Amino acid sequence: MKRKLNQKLLNLIEYYHLINAEILFGNSTINRNIKKDNQHIYGTKKQKLEKLKQKIKYIKNCELKENAKNIVFSDGNINSKIMIIGEGPGAQEDLEGIPFVGRAGKLLDKMLQAINLDRKKVYISNVVNYRPPSNRKPTDEEIARYFPYLLNHIEIISPKILLLLGSTALKAVIGDEQTISNARGKWLKKDIGTASPWIIASFHPAFLMRQPEQKKLSWIDLKMIRDKIKLINK
Ligand code: URA
Repeated sequence: MKRKLNQKLLNLIEYYHLINAEILFGNSTINRNIKKDNQHIYGTKKQKLEKLKQKIKYIKNCELKENAKNIVFSDGNINSKIMIIGEGPGAQEDLEGIPFVGRAGKLLDKMLQAINLDRKKVYISNVVNYRPPSNRKPTDEEIARYFPYLLNHIEIISPKILLLLGSTALKAVIGDEQTISNARGKWLKKDIGTASPWIIASFHPAFLMRQPEQKKLSWIDLKMIRDKIKLINK
């Protein structure tokens, strides 16, 4: 059953890539005179991010967006070598329009501090940019709908290290059949569009709050990240 669902998600992501989901869900008019190849080249990182944010704001027919108060796009340093991807905003994030500012966010801050990272030094976003009602998990279709935007987001930031927090981020970015318990704590070098980061998955802080005994494994992953940063900065 789970295998079937994962395959369905992979097919959906591939399908949305093929049909260019932006055209389907976006609101902007199609200008056939713009050369597609040039679209991602022009503009500074800041401008590209603003444009991406606007595109997400124009998504149509999305239950998440219709029920949310604010878009939750990102936080942190746009020039960071480290990008962190969570699942989706919760109530506090929805109120403030900033990712990871609720209880799970406080734990994430502590986890980062443990390896001498400040959240202002990293770049943080989520698989979906609007709060799923009642904090439910995003559906496969929602993950696939937001994936082209996430892909573009990763390309713009072009991090050297990509940390995937929890099973939703793992599934969206790696499309992995594995559980987070099996996939965590392993480096993987993978091209994500034009970006080529080292990727590592680890437990989501909300999961760690429910299962604190798993923090020891999370600490192993954090130390791996600390060591990789040292290597990258050499
Ligand atoms: N959990 C997430 O996955 N993302 C947030 O922004 C907050 C909580």
